[in-house]
Amino acid sequence: MIVVLGSINVDLVVRVPRLPLAGETLRGDTFETVGGGKGANQAVGVHRLGADVRLIGRVGDDELGRRALAALEIDTSLITVDPDESTGVALICVADDGANTIVTAGGANHAVGARELDALKSALYEADVLLVQLEIPMPVVEEAVALARNASVPVVCDPAPVAPLPASVLAGLDWITPNAVEAEALTGYADPARASRALLDAGVRNVVVTLGADGCLYNGELHVPAPKVEAIDTVACGDAFDAALAVSLAGGSFVTEALRHGCAAGALAATKPGAQPSLPTRADVDRLGFV
Ligand code: RIB
Repeated sequence: MIVVLGSINVDLVVRVPRLPLAGETLRGDTFETVGGGKGANQAVGVHRLGADVRLIGRVGDDELGRRALAALEIDTSLITVDPDESTGVALICVADDGANTIVTAGGANHAVGARELDALKSALYEADVLLVQLEIPMPVVEEAVALARNASVPVVCDPAPVAPLPASVLAGLDWITPNAVEAEALTGYADPARASRALLDAGVRNVVVTLGADGCLYNGELHVPAPKVEAIDTVACGDAFDAALAVSLAGGSFVTEALRHGCAAGALAATKPGAQPSLPTRADVDRLGFV
């Protein structure tokens, strides 16, 4: 079973011909609300790929919270509905070339704390892998990593949105999956191979720098390509990658197979619009024939 501790958002998505400049009012095209949040996306991604998953997180007791919960296809019993917080939202522009900008208002995600850590303690008894990201408070991530280490459960961390990671977190991670921009922000090195070595030196056991259409780089030395697809919307590609990686690791796959699974799921997510609606199923990945 895979446990995801993380954010739950409703994404407010506008299609635009190109990304807006600062200060510019840009005429957009369609508007949609879809289920999002890196934690929720990863949990739905795991479920679609056929593995058992538990999502631990928080939404507000409001209309958006009800929408976020309704969008999830998974067990919601470990999600707190908080009457004092509003549900997290993400304002997303997606351009015709598939590029995007995302701005979040964390709301209830920022109130994730002791209650979720208690739920995590119990869930870890059954967990094969813990997935975390950085849309919840850093002290909670820090404590979650420590709890997982104590329980001998491997932790995969997607350091997004990027923020400095305490040394204890880095040393407690089995896997980290930054994109190249995040890897540079974490280490100061623009070269993904150099950044990977810095993260390995900091104690992370496996470093994957995701490279979009170019696949990913493992531990600064093994390049894994991505399948060629027509990308229309790259939102949640990283979440799809993380979900597939975790599913493979929980299933005992070799590293290269797990990384190809991640690249396949990430690429497929780019071929459909939206966050959760774009996440591939196991059948989608099988049909692609890349893993
Ligand atoms: O990774 C994509 C996600 O980032 C979106 O669904 C949005 O909610 C933000 O959390």
